[in-house]
Amino acid sequence: MADLSTTLIHHPYVPPVGFEAPQPGVFKASTVIFPNAAAMRHFEWKDKTAYTYGLHGTPTTYTLEERLCTLEGGLQCVLVPSGLAAIANVALSLLKTGDEVLIPDNAYGPNKALAEGELLNWGISHRYYDPMDPSDLDSKISANTRLVWVEAAGSVTLEFPDLPELVRLCKAKKVLVALDNTWGAGLAFAPFDLIPGQTPALGVDISIHALTKYPSGGADVLMGSVITRDAALHLKLKLTHMRMGFGVAANDAELVLRSLPSMALRYRAHDESTRELAHWCLTRSEFSQVLHPALPGSPGHLHWRALCTPDLGGAAGLFSVILDTRFAQSQVDAFCDALQLFKIGYSWGGPMSLVVPYELNSMRSHWPAQLAQGTVVRFSVGLESASDLKADLDQAIRKTLI
Ligand SMILES: Cc1ncc(COP(=O)(O)O)c(C=O)c1O
Repeated sequence: MADLSTTLIHHPYVPPVGFEAPQPGVFKASTVIFPNAAAMRHFEWKDKTAYTYGLHGTPTTYTLEERLCTLEGGLQCVLVPSGLAAIANVALSLLKTGDEVLIPDNAYGPNKALAEGELLNWGISHRYYDPMDPSDLDSKISANTRLVWVEAAGSVTLEFPDLPELVRLCKAKKVLVALDNTWGAGLAFAPFDLIPGQTPALGVDISIHALTKYPSGGADVLMGSVITRDAALHLKLKLTHMRMGFGVAANDAELVLRSLPSMALRYRAHDESTRELAHWCLTRSEFSQVLHPALPGSPGHLHWRALCTPDLGGAAGLFSVILDTRFAQSQVDAFCDALQLFKIGYSWGGPMSLVVPYELNSMRSHWPAQLAQGTVVRFSVGLESASDLKADLDQAIRKTLI
């Protein structure tokens, strides 16, 4: 008779099979138990035929990976601890000393910081291109270019590029193209089939997604995904993922699995309120420009209209305004401070509206021709009532800008 402490660890009870519920079960493990030593030697984790170690996958993470592939139209996925880790996973897999990566000048800032820091230290160079000018990208692709990043819409200023054209240029020069698809979220357009019905499909090679935003939806999880349609490319990404020790916690995966079924509804709700607020901001003389891809006149609006088909038609929950040069930075800060429902904080895609003032000069190689001079303020619109949010903007404008 074993000691109680042993029995409680090696308990014989096995629950009946066949349990089913709307949400999948949550499996937590560092150790995964093998039936025998031969299995330990032969089990293969790379293709989801088995389990070998918590970092390499559990039923919970495999399930989330498969659902995200369905969302984005890909075939293979790796999960990483943040959206930025997804960007890093791509860079570490595909780039080596002597290579060059091209990044749009309006990319998510930390993607540029990674290039300017670690990548440069490892002898990997980078150049920034103007995402609104495909000929600029074309002229910058060199014999050393191994990877091109694209983002639609761009971060903070939300210019919408001619994504199919940028991808076409990369394909013509046989350079891999990776999309940061956090804004589109797999809902606004199909990253691996940019022109529906076209064969062969025109699409990016890799789509990364900060699941931290819409898939989580709660502003309480950090996670990222890297999705491909190409098995060889996926294997490269997966091996880097394994060697770097990237993994995600089962509880976090559970939260994203719980939020995914409501994501399309939430995305639409964010989108509707955002358009309403962006249109209202257009009527305010304090703002010299309102940036939102669905607004006629916003940079790249026609590209947005061409890509984000009426079926999908999404435009996410972000918009920015430019306050002209008559407003000092301190006045712009006072405007942000005066907002009550919009809280000052990074990120987006959660229930609470957020605001961030940006100094574009320090973020861009040069001031983009399509943008008015001034200070950029970005709003991430949450799930509060749009009229309450409008009233909040109105009171802050009255208090600080008039
Ligand atoms: C466009 C974009 N990509 C990636 C990320 C990174 O996501 P995370 O915060 O999970 O690292 C962000 C975060 O703000 C983002 O805005």
